[in-house]
Amino acid sequence: DDYDLLVVGSANADLVIGVERRPGAGETVLGSDLAVHPGGKGANQAVAAARLGARTALLARVGDDGHGRLLLDSQRAAGVDTVGVLVGGAPTGVALITVDPSGDNSIVVSPGANGRLTPGDVRTAVSLFHASRVVSTQLEIPLETVVEVVRNLAPGSRFVLNPSPPRPLPTEVLAACDPLIVNEHEAKVILGDACVSDAPEDWARLLLAKGPRSVVVTLGAQGSLVASSAGVTRVASVKVDAVDTTGAGDAFTAALAFRLGAGSALAEAAAYASRVGAVAVTRKGAQDSFPTADEVESLCCAGPGGNPR
Ligand code: RIB
Ligand code: NA
Repeated sequence: DDYDLLVVGSANADLVIGVERRPGAGETVLGSDLAVHPGGKGANQAVAAARLGARTALLARVGDDGHGRLLLDSQRAAGVDTVGVLVGGAPTGVALITVDPSGDNSIVVSPGANGRLTPGDVRTAVSLFHASRVVSTQLEIPLETVVEVVRNLAPGSRFVLNPSPPRPLPTEVLAACDPLIVNEHEAKVILGDACVSDAPEDWARLLLAKGPRSVVVTLGAQGSLVASSAGVTRVASVKVDAVDTTGAGDAFTAALAFRLGAGSALAEAAAYASRVGAVAVTRKGAQDSFPTADEVESLCCAGPGGNPR
């Protein structure tokens, strides 16, 4: 394979303002100076994987504008192959983000060019699929494009999906996931009426019954659950003081996908991914906060349950 990971997904300019608290309807609050960071769940995954040493390609669409150039520069600086990044058709996607003092964020995304990444674009890039060991995606691109991704997977390659922002998924997509990676909110949306329990272990089992070969449920400070035909296992989290959680989930997904492609078992890959995500939340921004493999070792050496120095 030429690539450890092919990411198909979104690229956004993140317009970030720090706030003491978020405004309610009809209210105005003052925040910090504006920061503009490269983001988007797809572009974030690609940078995160490349920083960790994965040979990575991105299939995405940006606008022919300054935000698009910011995103291309960030991908190239991280070592991502941008041969699959298409330019034009609409302005680059934008995410309006507020970050509060606890490091939590709220995000509104204007898809822009991400909404113009079509099934035809996927078919045109089929050679990338044949050169990639693992393919990952998210839901900031049209669902029909995600369906086309699943249809173009090469035999023997692995598909990883983080359905964010969540919506109900066709059986064809669910059946291809190995794993489906969800947080609590995403699990509830995907399960819909089938969400008949409050226990995350049950969500993992119920999600698995919808067809994926494996499932990961991320639970923040409670770690994660990994589920497959071998059963459900809890993986501990790494405790950190959060500065900015933006993109940490994308780094988790990318690290997990990379490790699975390298042959790690699911629980082992999830433990490593939680260390990568832990470093990311201690720094500002999304892509700007993602660690190299060496930084994961030096900043987060205690492993699951330990404290980064
Ligand atoms: O997951 C974080 C990302 O969500 C941000 O970078 C923002 O662009 C939105 O896509
Ligand atoms: Na961060």
